[in-house]
Amino acid sequence: MSRKKIIAGNWKMNVKPSETAALVKAIAEATAAYADKVEIVCCTPAIDVLEAVAAAKGTTIGVGTENCHWEDHGAFTGEISTGMIVDTGATYVITGHSERRQYFGETDETVNKRTTAAIKAGLTCMMCVGETLDEREADLVNEVIGRQLKVGLKGLTANDAAKLVIAYEPVWAIGTGKTATPAQAQQVHAFIRETLAKLFGEATAETIRIQYGGSMKPGNAAELLAQKDIDGGLIGGAALKAADFAGIISAAANAK
Ligand code: 13P
Repeated sequence: MSRKKIIAGNWKMNVKPSETAALVKAIAEATAAYADKVEIVCCTPAIDVLEAVAAAKGTTIGVGTENCHWEDHGAFTGEISTGMIVDTGATYVITGHSERRQYFGETDETVNKRTTAAIKAGLTCMMCVGETLDEREADLVNEVIGRQLKVGLKGLTANDAAKLVIAYEPVWAIGTGKTATPAQAQQVHAFIRETLAKLFGEATAETIRIQYGGSMKPGNAAELLAQKDIDGGLIGGAALKAADFAGIISAAANAK
C-alpha cells in the first residue's frame, strides 16, 4: 500500500495576516517541484486563513486551521466552526494538538467532538496524539496513545477514516530540538497503525497516513520519513521558513 506523504506546517501563533501571503507564496515557489509527490499543507491561525487561501489559489498548497469547534454556530466566544472554515475555502484542520491539551483544557472527549465535526464537514483532519516525557519514562506510551486514539476516534467509521490523518507528536520533542529517533518514532507509528486496525479494520488502517511531529527539520526528515509507518510530518518551527519547509518536503518526495 503506498500512502501519499503529507507534510503540514502548523504555524501556531507566529504569523500575522500581513505576513501570510508572502510566506504561502514563498512556500509554493520553493516546493512546486515536489507538488505531485507530496501533499503540502499550511495550517494557519484562524485570522490568517483567508489570506492564506487567497495566496494559495492556483498552487497545490492546501490550507487549514489549527483547531475547530464541534457546534455549527452559537455562543462560543473565541471559537470557530467547521462551517466557517469550509466557507473560507480551507480544507484541513488540526485537532487535539498537545498545546491545546496542555494549556487550554482539551480532553480526549473534546478532541473526539472536534475531530468528528471536522470529518463530517468534509475537512481533512489531522488529529494529534503523543505522550509527555513523564509518561514515556513511566512506560505508559502505548497506554496513553491507545486511549487518545480510542476516545478521540470514538464513533467514527472506516468511511470517515478517508478524511483522517493521525499526527504522532511526542510532547517532549515539540520545540525542544529533541527528536524521537527514527526507531522510537517507528515503534509508536506501528502501534498507532495496529490500534487503527482494531478500530477500522486492517485494510482501512493501511490507508491512513500517520505523520511524525516534533523538531522535524531538513536535517533529520529523510531518516524519519524512511520509516515504514511514517507517512509525513507536522512541522512547527521549520514551517515558518520556506527554505526549511521545502527541505523537509524534498526529503518526503525522495522517500520511498
Ligand atoms: P516543532 O516542529 O516546532 O517542534 O513543533 C512541532 C509541532 O508541534 C507541530 O504541530
